[in-house]
Amino acid sequence: MHTFARSADLRACVSAWRRAGARIGFVPTMGNLHAGHYSLIELAHQHVDKVVASVFVNPTQFGPTEDFASYPRTLDADRAGLAAQDCDALFAPAVDEMYPFGVAHAVRVEVPGVGDILDGAARPGHFAGVATVVAKLFNLVQPDVAVFGQKDYQQLLVIRRMTQDLRLPIEIVVAPICREANGLAMSSRNQYLTPDERERAGVIHQVLCVMRDEVHAGRARAEIETAAHATLVAAGSIPDYATIRRAADLGVPDAGDRHGLIALIATRLGRARLIDNLLLDD
Ligand code: PAF
Repeated sequence: MHTFARSADLRACVSAWRRAGARIGFVPTMGNLHAGHYSLIELAHQHVDKVVASVFVNPTQFGPTEDFASYPRTLDADRAGLAAQDCDALFAPAVDEMYPFGVAHAVRVEVPGVGDILDGAARPGHFAGVATVVAKLFNLVQPDVAVFGQKDYQQLLVIRRMTQDLRLPIEIVVAPICREANGLAMSSRNQYLTPDERERAGVIHQVLCVMRDEVHAGRARAEIETAAHATLVAAGSIPDYATIRRAADLGVPDAGDRHGLIALIATRLGRARLIDNLLLDD
């Protein structure tokens, strides 16, 4: 596996592959890789000839009180894990390689609408940071296919919208959520949980399943959301939201809508803010 820190070296490698007729897949990450990330690499291999992964803890998507400084950085282990997955190239740039004019003076990509609600409201500036860095990475790698996990569902919609609006010829492929034995969605931030919190965090997936069953049983959306909120609080977490939305755009569904819906939760447990979701038509 090639490892590059400089954009020019990455570009030269990808251009040579492209000249040889290869299709390129891309999996952007912030590192501290786990089985969920490796499932994205595996899925990318099914679509393309060469897979590029990036590891970059992107400062612009963290709020001033968030965990940018303490976010786990495990590049050596990530490199070994990616090589074991037959990843073809790793791009691991420094901050000044991605933001040559400095973070404060960077060109920004905003995705209004879907980028402003739910996590966009709870974490102002977060999705502009994500869209900005993903646009830069897409421009460097110029992949045919990019793979994102369903766990970050709102991020997925933001990136789809950004890709369509900037007319980027990149197919966005979605990978299913990988879960621990108790249903907890895999995430690098799970390591902020104590063993007891990790066990209790299984309630998030249980609540999502109850929300799905109650939608299918015809219960009113407001009642379902209130009950979900109460269960999350009873389990010792502090919910930002437990909500049922339209899967296409995360808008609030009409009273009679029973299809094309998704249940989403964001809740704080100990030091971690955990997000998860369930598509209700599956
Ligand atoms: O999902 C992530 O890990 C990040 O938000 C991403 C897409 C790599 C952008 O920094």
